[in-house]
Amino acid sequence: MLYALLLALAAAATAGGQSSPNARLAEALLQAGPAARHSNNIVQDALIDAPGLVRKYGYPLEVHHVVTADGYVLQVHRIPHGRDANSRPGPRPVALVMHGLLCSSADFLVLGPGNALAYVLAEAGYDVWLPNARGNFYSRRHLFLDPDDREGLQFWKFSWDEIGNLDLPAIVNFIIVNTGQQKMHYIGYSQGTTAFLVLNSLRPEYNDRFISFQALAPSAFVENNQNNLRAIMAQFESVLEAVAFNLGFGEVVGGEVWRQVFTALGLTFCNDESFLQPLCVAAIVGTGEIENFNKTMLPVFVGHNPAGAAFRQIIHYSQVLRFQRFARYNHGNPLTNLALYGSMTPPEYDLSKITTPAYLHYGKNDVQSDFRDVLLLGERLGNTIGVYPVERETFNHFDFIWGGDARTQLYDKLIDMMRSAERALDQNSQV
Ligand SMILES: *[C@@H]1O[C@H](CO)[C@@H](O)[C@H](O)[C@H]1NC(C)=O
Repeated sequence: MLYALLLALAAAATAGGQSSPNARLAEALLQAGPAARHSNNIVQDALIDAPGLVRKYGYPLEVHHVVTADGYVLQVHRIPHGRDANSRPGPRPVALVMHGLLCSSADFLVLGPGNALAYVLAEAGYDVWLPNARGNFYSRRHLFLDPDDREGLQFWKFSWDEIGNLDLPAIVNFIIVNTGQQKMHYIGYSQGTTAFLVLNSLRPEYNDRFISFQALAPSAFVENNQNNLRAIMAQFESVLEAVAFNLGFGEVVGGEVWRQVFTALGLTFCNDESFLQPLCVAAIVGTGEIENFNKTMLPVFVGHNPAGAAFRQIIHYSQVLRFQRFARYNHGNPLTNLALYGSMTPPEYDLSKITTPAYLHYGKNDVQSDFRDVLLLGERLGNTIGVYPVERETFNHFDFIWGGDARTQLYDKLIDMMRSAERALDQNSQV
């Protein structure tokens, strides 16, 4: 459902091509001002990439490349300090902010200064690190595997198990070496929370590296999921992967071409003048309550999301639903499982091993991360500080990154909780 409608319209958008992004971009560049708040130019913000966004709005930016133990080259964006407040360089507490499925670091930037989570954290005095998981638009690189090789698809044989088990350790170690900070906050959104659970259950020694785990729309169990597409996917999970890999599809809507398609689509159909804008809204956020969704921003959101993923990431979520177990990736073949895991069925992730102080945040209207599943997760984690509903009744999965009121509903409270976790840590270390 998520992007199905837009996918169907994609061909039309590229064929139509009546908008001229380049001409409009040139015009837009003339109007840009570094001190702007919100988005001061929709077309421009849809076309430039995440580093371009940060620079445009006058924030300090570093682009790092982190190599994983298995050779993936991850692009990590860092905003080391604020622009208006806390604007001097210096040692600051680190906030590692990890994106969701089909997402990227850009999702924490698109709402613009004053609103987007990355800028709000930088202004609050945090050293903000925004990684990109293997395979997305910014991390489609490997030391020796080719993401565009349609033969073996070796590059695409990973799920969020590898993102948690291999990407996150490389990123965390890189941050420690680079900043000298031994501990950091981890803020995960959706699949970003899943990856954290994978990391700390498989490698519990990493718990010690985190001051707090702020889980936004956490995804682990799907016992109460009402998302029909996922239910259908789950039925055909084992067939789907075989078919996709045989056809040469290891990737879902990623790379430069898809980004251009979605950007063109967003600019053409989702702008304020388009009579199709309501359709864009319905395709992306559904037909529910959208009073706090700023429709004007749609071309910017669609210009940066989806950002690509491996097909296996989706398959792995389908397995969780089908087998009703939050377990490692099932390779279908019991012997492959046996070789990799020492058992014919993949082992469950042991959530009791996750001892980082956990703060779970959920939206009451989020069908992707059902609140009953979030409560269950809170019970099973080793050190849950609290499970917090976002106040607005209609807060949904997309409001965490796109909600016009995300700052007042969530981000400001998040920062209060991070500070209280820092104080608790200081007290403990003094005892
Ligand atoms: C919606 O976004 C546009 C463009 O960034 C901005 O000018 C406008 O103020 C926003 N509307 C609200 C209600 O925040």
